[in-house]
Amino acid sequence: MSKADVIVGIQWGDEGKGKIVDKLAQEYDMVCRSQGGHNAGHTIWVDGVRYDLHLVPSGILNPKAVNVIGNGVVLNPQSIITEMEQFENLEGRIFISDKAHLNLPYHSLIDQAKEKLKGDNAIGTTGKGIGPAYADKINRVGQRAGELLNPKQLCENIMNYFSENKVIFDAMDVKLPDEVELLAELTIYNEKLGKFITNTTNLVWDAIDADKKILLEGAQGTLLDIDHGTYPYVTSSATVSAGACTGLGIAPKDIGVVTGIVKAYTTRVGNGPFPTEDFTDAGETMANVGKEVGTTTGRGRRCGWFDAVGVRHASRLNGCDQLSLMKLDVLDGFETIKICVAYEVNGERINYVPSNMDNIIPIYEEIKGWDSVVGCREYDQLPETAKLYIEKIEELTKTKVGIISTSPEREDTIIRK
Ligand code: IMP
Repeated sequence: MSKADVIVGIQWGDEGKGKIVDKLAQEYDMVCRSQGGHNAGHTIWVDGVRYDLHLVPSGILNPKAVNVIGNGVVLNPQSIITEMEQFENLEGRIFISDKAHLNLPYHSLIDQAKEKLKGDNAIGTTGKGIGPAYADKINRVGQRAGELLNPKQLCENIMNYFSENKVIFDAMDVKLPDEVELLAELTIYNEKLGKFITNTTNLVWDAIDADKKILLEGAQGTLLDIDHGTYPYVTSSATVSAGACTGLGIAPKDIGVVTGIVKAYTTRVGNGPFPTEDFTDAGETMANVGKEVGTTTGRGRRCGWFDAVGVRHASRLNGCDQLSLMKLDVLDGFETIKICVAYEVNGERINYVPSNMDNIIPIYEEIKGWDSVVGCREYDQLPETAKLYIEKIEELTKTKVGIISTSPEREDTIIRK
């Protein structure tokens, strides 16, 4: 029996999970997604060809890997159809849980309408309908992927759902779907996706029993977790490693090595607290050098310094065995680098993440910068000050930094023994 290794984002998402998962996916037999939806996204280049992934697990680029979209995902059929069109011969290589909830076009309309109504208090969602789709699931009025196999019945269910909630939809100016068009759309989804929909829980159990190497690919990041993130400025799923259990139907004892992905600095898209956000030239440099623009929405990311208090908290929540430190090269050339070692809240110094992250003043230590880490593939090749920075991160976060990325290139990655 094998255990499933987990890759999880430790900050507010966009930590560079794509590069690591893409690299690791070559070594795994099965790669699974357990939460989130097409709000996630990364671009992978292979032999000069660009692939945009949102829902499809990164194992798709390893011809030998099987890819699973678990029950905890909210599935936008059109999004996954578009993604799948980038590849050929997918039968037997991708499986979608029949229990995954559907994220249909009206969920995006509701998401966008709600954000508009909130005005200045908007969450800054991706507008992809994630919250409304998960809300329907929790309200027990959602539709599941298995129902795509019977488009007529599904169409009837959706029309009933709309008439039951008509008052609310009218207030939000969300139009009722046309029944004929809806049925036509659902029929196409069934034709294109039907053969990929199955009981994925059994599939994952079989892989565990057959001692296959399994990788669970997290989406978003720990501080966006519905319970442990900066609520309400969070996404609507359990982004922590424990969420992978419910999102796939596996037990905690089936989890193997947990790797937390962190950037060497911090970014966040959308609204909500961000204690180490930097509004000076330093933050702008990180944004420009790090090309900090969202792959899903094209929005610019807010940038700031490494928050060791937040990362220590996230590492503990996820049970991280190691951290993978991404984009270290983006800090090349800074004379000094700040690292947040504690918070000040109401005049008091604290060294934990409070339940409400508003009004935190970061307390920094400064360390000397370095010229360049680009191209370093061995730990000993790194400049001494870069090593000091990494060791400081290990000390403050109480977690080993096992992987270090020194450029966007797949090979510019240090694996520490
Ligand atoms: P939602 O997931 O679209 O509902 O958005 C809720 C919050 O999560 C917003 O702040 C989004 O910017 C953020 N978010 C959602 N998905 C991602 C992601 O993949 N990377 C980074 N932030 C994300």
